[in-house]
Amino acid sequence: MKVLLTGGAGFIGQHVMRELLSRRHDVRILDSLRPDVHSGAQWQAPAGVESLVGDVRDPGAVDRALSGVDAVLHLAAKVGLGVDVGDLPDYASSNDAGTAELLAGMARAGVSRLTLASSMVVYGEGVGACPQHGAVTPGPRMADALAAGRFEPPCPVCGEPLATALVSEDAPLDPRNAYASSKLAQEFYASNWARVTGGSVAALRYHNVYGPGMPRDTPYAGVAAIFTSALRRGEAPKVFEDGGQRRDFVHVRDVAAATVLACENHVAGVRAFNVGSGTPRTVGQMAAALASALQGPAPIVTGHFRLGDVRHITADSSRLRTELGWQPKIEFAAGMSELALG
Ligand code: UD1
Repeated sequence: MKVLLTGGAGFIGQHVMRELLSRRHDVRILDSLRPDVHSGAQWQAPAGVESLVGDVRDPGAVDRALSGVDAVLHLAAKVGLGVDVGDLPDYASSNDAGTAELLAGMARAGVSRLTLASSMVVYGEGVGACPQHGAVTPGPRMADALAAGRFEPPCPVCGEPLATALVSEDAPLDPRNAYASSKLAQEFYASNWARVTGGSVAALRYHNVYGPGMPRDTPYAGVAAIFTSALRRGEAPKVFEDGGQRRDFVHVRDVAAATVLACENHVAGVRAFNVGSGTPRTVGQMAAALASALQGPAPIVTGHFRLGDVRHITADSSRLRTELGWQPKIEFAAGMSELALG
């Protein structure tokens, strides 16, 4: 297939590009090389890959990029949690207006297959298991509770502690920060487009992606990169809250494989897929794994918190396994060592 990969110069995009090439697809990249991600770095597409520098918000760039294409993988986005509310317009513009332009361009060009990079953050606080009330959706965590060290969101009905539950694709959608809202809006625009044009959408809700090439030292860096940078400076990783917050750290090569599989196996309409390893870890465990790989100082649990953070978010990725035959291949300890030592 001839595919357009937006954001192909980015962290996940470069791995998706390699996976596409290894599966003999013809790849064209559209990337704006936005300065908050690419400052100082030289991007050179490998031989055989056509690389266009341009923004998905520019209809001319979109039309050029879509010419002759069979399918689109849309990864270009502003990522991260955001620094403050001043980031809102940029999320809305980069992610939502950008996706809207791309979809309008796909309709003009008659391209009917979209694989979209979405995120687990669309589920907000996810689902918890209450011994009395079953599966419940915790409410937003309040600043005063967090400041008092009450990090666990309680059952919204009885206030009792909740046990972990894995979030399926049918869980309620509840974005709790600007990035999450922009990712969900992308999914909604894409399904509107699919209904009107007869196109198909695979929305991949990525969990916490880590691995070689992860952006570091930016306000938008993921926690594994932040900890690796600290350890390389000889400093202890600073773990927020009490370190017990759970995530599913999934290796970027496994994510790239899932993304390309989804692109190759579209079904009619809109299908969402969680992309996680299936094994939740705490942020404290992850910090310890990196510190041990780099033989650095032990992590420090700071009790600090960020209001936009969710406490636990862990995926049930069985749909991806059963419907697309995907299997994550990179084991947590090996993947974290590769990141730390790479
Ligand atoms: C991450 C991604 C987000 C993606 C989501 C999918 C980033 C920046 N965010 O969000 O794009 O959609 O996964 O699930 O890549 N923490 C520390 N110390 C630090 C920084 C963070 O302990 O110095 C903690 C945070 O409080 C949080 C956890 O680490 O509990 C994860 O933070 P972060 O890497 O920013 O990711 P998510 O919010 O999970």
